[in-house]
Amino acid sequence: MNLNGLTIENKAVLAPMAGFCDIVMRKVADDFGAGFTVSEMVSARALRYGDKKSRQLMESWAHRGRYGIQLFGFDPVDFGPAVAAALEYSPDFIDINMGCPAPKITSNGAGSALMKDVKLAASIAQATVKAAGSLPVSVKMRKGWDDDCITCVQLAKRCEEVGVKFITVHGRTRQQMYTPGIDLSAIEKVKQAVSIPVIGNGDIVCAEDAVKMMDATGCDRVMVGRHALSHPWIFRQIDRALSGKEIPADLDINARMELLTWHIKQLCRVNGEYLGMRKARGQAALYMKGLKGAARLRYMTNSLSVYADREKLVEEVLKENSDV
Ligand SMILES: Cc1cc2nc3c(=O)[nH]c(=O)nc-3n(C[C@H](O)[C@H](O)[C@H](O)COP(=O)(O)O)c2cc1C
Repeated sequence: MNLNGLTIENKAVLAPMAGFCDIVMRKVADDFGAGFTVSEMVSARALRYGDKKSRQLMESWAHRGRYGIQLFGFDPVDFGPAVAAALEYSPDFIDINMGCPAPKITSNGAGSALMKDVKLAASIAQATVKAAGSLPVSVKMRKGWDDDCITCVQLAKRCEEVGVKFITVHGRTRQQMYTPGIDLSAIEKVKQAVSIPVIGNGDIVCAEDAVKMMDATGCDRVMVGRHALSHPWIFRQIDRALSGKEIPADLDINARMELLTWHIKQLCRVNGEYLGMRKARGQAALYMKGLKGAARLRYMTNSLSVYADREKLVEEVLKENSDV
């Protein structure tokens, strides 16, 4: 996939996930071959008014892969200054969030509420494209707001007209939040309606799901969200599967624990030990998914407090799961 000279090699990319896709998670996904990663969503209005915490969300690793900064907002006027602030972090593209279902976002008219107002959504996209200059702009959208308001095709066409360079479609309405299963035909319809690249998103938990989505919809890339948080090696698996090569096995337990240890170390380096270890609790629980002794491990992950605690946890995991 080529975007104004920006080549996205790997066919699977990491979804933006607020609260999860921080600088460390994005580095992990990069190392496992994600075609690109995206920042957590950043408020365009907060950037416009110079909010420091919002700026921190955009920081990235020095040796990173392709990287997009995702902005959310409801007023086109905010996006020019927000893009200017984002450009200081040298992203490879700017993404606009038109899919977030959270009431605190949609109640202001941002996120997936934009699926109800295609005119406003297109104005936001246009303002962003103008401010970004030669930098590509993408839009991440849902299928629509609810069953009576399915606007993905209409919105995708308008986005293409105003200069958006690619689109990601999460095949659910806002009303559906994250269940039930996704509608592949929505992704297919968008792909047929526009000539810019389309990325399909939703419910990919193995390489076969990615192959199925690409076959069914004709999409150009697939985006993986929740499953990648616990199984980041899925990017390599998908790319191999889509190249017709043998799919590498999941990481064994030793490699998984090495990854966990590295991840915790980086969380502490970036956030300091106190906050880093609190963040490590959630991440450790993700890497423990499906392991034996879950209840005891959950208790241990919940009480991670100082960096040294990780050793006991890893020891315990290896004792109970030597055959994984
Ligand atoms: C905890 C969480 C946070 C999310 N945050 C964002 C976000 O900041 N921006 C966005 O566009 N989508 C966000 N999403 C949606 C995901 O990017 C993705 O579209 C969705 O999870 C479906 O993909 P999956 O089935 O592979 O997880 C979030 C999803 C989850 C579960």
